[in-house]
Amino acid sequence: MSKKRMRPRRPDWLSTTVFYEIYPQSFYDTNSDGIGDIPGIIRKLDYIQSLGCNAIWVNPCFESPFKDAGYDVADYYKVAKRYGTNSDLKRLFKEAQKRGIRVCLDLVPGHTSIEHPWFKKSCKAGKNKYSNWYIWTDNVWKSITGQYRVIHGYGERDGNFITNFFWLQPALNYGFAKPDPTKPWQLSTDHPDVKALRREIMNIMCYWLDMGADGFRVDMASSLVKGDNNQQATSRFWQQVRIMFEKNYPDAVLISEWFDPEKAVRAGFHADFAERFAYASLFRRERVCGMHPITEGYSFFRREGKGDIAKFVNSYLKHLNKTRHKGYISIPTGNHDLSRISFGRNLKEIELAFAFVLTMPGVPFIYYGDEIGMKYIESLPSKEGGYNRTGSRTPMQWSNGRNAGFSEATANKLYLPVDRSKNSANVESQQDKPYSLLNKVRRLIALRKSSAALCADGEFIPLYAKPRKYPFVYMRRKGREKFLITLNPSSNKVSANFKAPSISSPGRLQVGTGTVLTAKDGRSKVDMAPVSYGIFRM
Ligand code: GLC
Ligand code: CA
Repeated sequence: MSKKRMRPRRPDWLSTTVFYEIYPQSFYDTNSDGIGDIPGIIRKLDYIQSLGCNAIWVNPCFESPFKDAGYDVADYYKVAKRYGTNSDLKRLFKEAQKRGIRVCLDLVPGHTSIEHPWFKKSCKAGKNKYSNWYIWTDNVWKSITGQYRVIHGYGERDGNFITNFFWLQPALNYGFAKPDPTKPWQLSTDHPDVKALRREIMNIMCYWLDMGADGFRVDMASSLVKGDNNQQATSRFWQQVRIMFEKNYPDAVLISEWFDPEKAVRAGFHADFAERFAYASLFRRERVCGMHPITEGYSFFRREGKGDIAKFVNSYLKHLNKTRHKGYISIPTGNHDLSRISFGRNLKEIELAFAFVLTMPGVPFIYYGDEIGMKYIESLPSKEGGYNRTGSRTPMQWSNGRNAGFSEATANKLYLPVDRSKNSANVESQQDKPYSLLNKVRRLIALRKSSAALCADGEFIPLYAKPRKYPFVYMRRKGREKFLITLNPSSNKVSANFKAPSISSPGRLQVGTGTVLTAKDGRSKVDMAPVSYGIFRM
């Protein structure tokens, strides 16, 4: 077999894709009920296209009691009323396609809501089709030890159920990697009921792909099979899904929330988000919000200049080498679980972070509103299980008008309050200013898409990435095209000497200011002003 044929097939479009993540309840409200909706996303597709983004990921938009913002699904086959109908979603697929934009849905395969009819039936004392679709122990009085969290005393069934996230998100039953023979309630991964559930999850995917979806971002993708220490049994499930994709939907993508690209790509995903540690070491500061607070260390993209880019680069290269030609690493500007990129940063510093995200290999993700510098709103009361994530989920700011152009509803009806702070950002006021963050982000995306060297598959060659030192310098290269990227997020003037392969001239600055690059006989030097960056075409 030729080497080429052994490489797994991948949807080509990913190699030039920049994703835009949409939290649907906060994007655009077309019927004045205060909640964003699918017709609202359709209405704003031209805007997304004008950014240069060519794919969107929509957070869960299915029937749900919304105790975890829709990550508690009650019907996988039905769009939640508040967002519209299945035909609205179908129309979104069509309208997006017209504009060259792909649409990925959010699949939550690991758990449902307690309101899901499957779970309600599973709670019944009498044995039925769904009894084993969730993981129940066989004695309500007997507690279990180990890594599982169980809920006691729910429903008429004599047993406790394992929960995946919040208590009201019961884990679906993908079986146990090594069932304990003394605990007969632990089913094997090939138990007929487990297999039936797995088939159903595949059916759900087919349903939306047949309707026109381009793929899925898969929630908590690594957590399916229990007692699966190396995630091998969980990986086997995803490998089957991948085979099904290659056979029936070769152009559709699977993107995981696994935070371990090496493992996720081996499991069959086309892309995975960078390790949790990576995001923290790049963007987050000591005072953080989100589910996985990192309390130690400094991040690199901070004016204090105390971060350590070498640590990031080491781990990134490890994943990059293991996923080369097989899948991609995604670095997001933010998401619905994290504080916003603007947190503790001014506009110039946000731009610098974008310059990084948009010149790295793989598939970058922009969280809605980050492109205009929307704020993380502190101390908001928790909404739909958001807790401290709520501050990153406020309505998109479109204009200076009523409710920042998000909705015509009265302000107290809004899903969340809009940012009312002085000088709060909005699209309208940045639209016509050539040097606004919005237009700078547009230029960075356009530059990325203008060259295969800057896109997903271009080589990544770190040139200056020293422990606790600034700046960070790297090259992107593909064929004869080469770019040099220099980043100094610190508030100090810095310089660096480095060896750069096959560089003889200083190159042409494409975007950025404050960077002087000199090159002679394969040795280069860069002098950088505080908080500055440069992207040079060599
Ligand atoms: C993922 C989602 C998060 C959700 C959780 C449980 O991490 O991103 O928002 O609360 O899974 O489904
Ligand atoms: Ca609405």
